[in-house]
Amino acid sequence: MPVSITESHPVPTHMKGRDFLTFLEYSPAELQELLSLAAYLKKMKRSRTPHRLLEGRSVAMYFEKPSNRTRCSFEVGIYDLGMHPFMLRKDEINLGVRETIADTARTLARYVDGVMIRTFAQKDVEEMAQWSSVPIINGLTDDYHPCQVLADLLTVQEHFGELKGRKLTYVGDGNNMANSLMLGCAMVGMDVTIASPSGYQPRPDIVAQAQSIAKENGATVAVSDDVKGAVKNASVVYTDVWASMGQEAEAEARKVAFKDYQVNAANMANALPEAIVLHCLPAHRGEEISEEVLEKFAPVIFEQAENRLHAQKAVMAAVIE
Ligand code: CP
Ligand code: NVA
Repeated sequence: MPVSITESHPVPTHMKGRDFLTFLEYSPAELQELLSLAAYLKKMKRSRTPHRLLEGRSVAMYFEKPSNRTRCSFEVGIYDLGMHPFMLRKDEINLGVRETIADTARTLARYVDGVMIRTFAQKDVEEMAQWSSVPIINGLTDDYHPCQVLADLLTVQEHFGELKGRKLTYVGDGNNMANSLMLGCAMVGMDVTIASPSGYQPRPDIVAQAQSIAKENGATVAVSDDVKGAVKNASVVYTDVWASMGQEAEAEARKVAFKDYQVNAANMANALPEAIVLHCLPAHRGEEISEEVLEKFAPVIFEQAENRLHAQKAVMAAVIE
């Protein structure tokens, strides 16, 4: 059941100690609880009401890829909740190389109350979680970006008032964003269509998993190579870079493969008149999104970026003991 947002919002205690790796660790009802808590924490932040719910704890952040939003929103969010944030660089930890992942995890858990990781392989984050006695939060892997999608769902909920029954169309690479959007939308009962060229569509096993979750929640998940058809009836049109972090060498080949997969005014004409455009950022204007469309939807896109802060604070408040 969604938790109502009141001035004295209860922080759920039944998620304490859990990892946040893919979304699949949570039930649809728990996802709604996280969204509700995020909305409450946003109100607290906006009204400058202190909410140091985890006073005295510490959270480590480990990055093997660049970041603006994840780095800054986690650092500020950790501090807002009364905790001490600190950043670990690749040359300090060198996950899985300097020592085993199991030893890194068991050592860190002796010092900190939670660990946020951004890296390449999802299996490394899952191995950390297997060995860590404190929650591991996935700050992006090659396969998933659940923190981003929690913020995206908060943004759609704020904009339209509800999620269930709305359609989100993702145009572009079948990457970590496409995977997490399929799972997140399926869990909240939103229809989702991924429009990607052949060879760049999302992994069939994740599509099948999302389809089965969607079915339980009265929604659908579809994959297509036809942008025009996919965008039809969409309330939300979403895109992301054509070459993700780590795929820089493929950037030129991808510009050719994705040339017809740009979110622009012509494609937006097929969406619902009230449709919004979301982008996880960073954006490459003139590639996955036109300058015109990005600037038209800049207010909601930067609200979406802000919502990373509130969404991640909800996750931390719910899982860190
Ligand atoms: N959207 C997102 O995760 O941005 P950063 O890569 O800047 O953290
Ligand atoms: N797909 C992108 C998302 C960036 C937030 C990447 O992995 O680089």
